[in-house]
Amino acid sequence: MIDTNIKLIHPCIEYKNSYIGLVTEFVINNEPFIPFPLKMDFKDFAQMIKKLKGYARGENLMPGFVPHSTYWLVDNKEVVAVANLRHRLNEHLLKEGGHIGYGVKPSSRKKGYATILLAGTIKKAKEKGINPILVTCEKDNIASAKVIQKNNGILDDEIFSPAHNEIIQRYWIHTG
Ligand SMILES: CC(C)(COP(=O)(O)OP(=O)(O)OC[C@H]1O[C@@H](n2cnc3c(N)ncnc32)[C@H](O)[C@@H]1OP(=O)(O)O)[C@@H](O)C(=O)NCCC(=O)NCCS
Repeated sequence: MIDTNIKLIHPCIEYKNSYIGLVTEFVINNEPFIPFPLKMDFKDFAQMIKKLKGYARGENLMPGFVPHSTYWLVDNKEVVAVANLRHRLNEHLLKEGGHIGYGVKPSSRKKGYATILLAGTIKKAKEKGINPILVTCEKDNIASAKVIQKNNGILDDEIFSPAHNEIIQRYWIHTG
């Protein structure tokens, strides 16, 4: 049952154990780290938070990366999902990655969290003046496609990604 106290927050030290629990579940389930900040080393947790803050300001970005913000969805004091918002598109993101990536803790799936997380991240994008917003997913990721469609995503096209050996759906969300 989703708590009414659900909130979208910037990464912070307060939820350290819960966040580590989320990443650990991805590892145990042998799941790819989506969105990519889940790959970050969290041994020095404060340092990880500092790096994420820097990335949002466009500092120390990895080669080929644009400034990006990471958000945690917290329900009942637990981090249940993570989103990453790219502040602009580059050639690669325009083709495949889009503005927003997200992932839900495996044990917290099918409860509506991704739909709430994407809605909240769209609001953040709007605050940053990002409009329209591109969100992509693999065609066979039925859950993700539903999440995008429930957030008013309009399918633009489907492209083959040689890198993923998959068909990628590209959706635009207009925030008015
Ligand atoms: C895709 C993902 C984000 C969905 O998260 P979630 O919190 O389970 O999604 P929601 O609960 O908001 O469900 C959205 C819809 O998808 C459906 N759904 C969820 N999991 C599903 C599954 N495995 N198969 C089919 N439908 C599924 C839900 O029933 C719901 O549909 P409904 O509104 O018709 O009931 C989650 O499975 C995940 O983190 N996957 C790994 C990372 C990933 O693929 N990220 C997206 C990259 S584009």
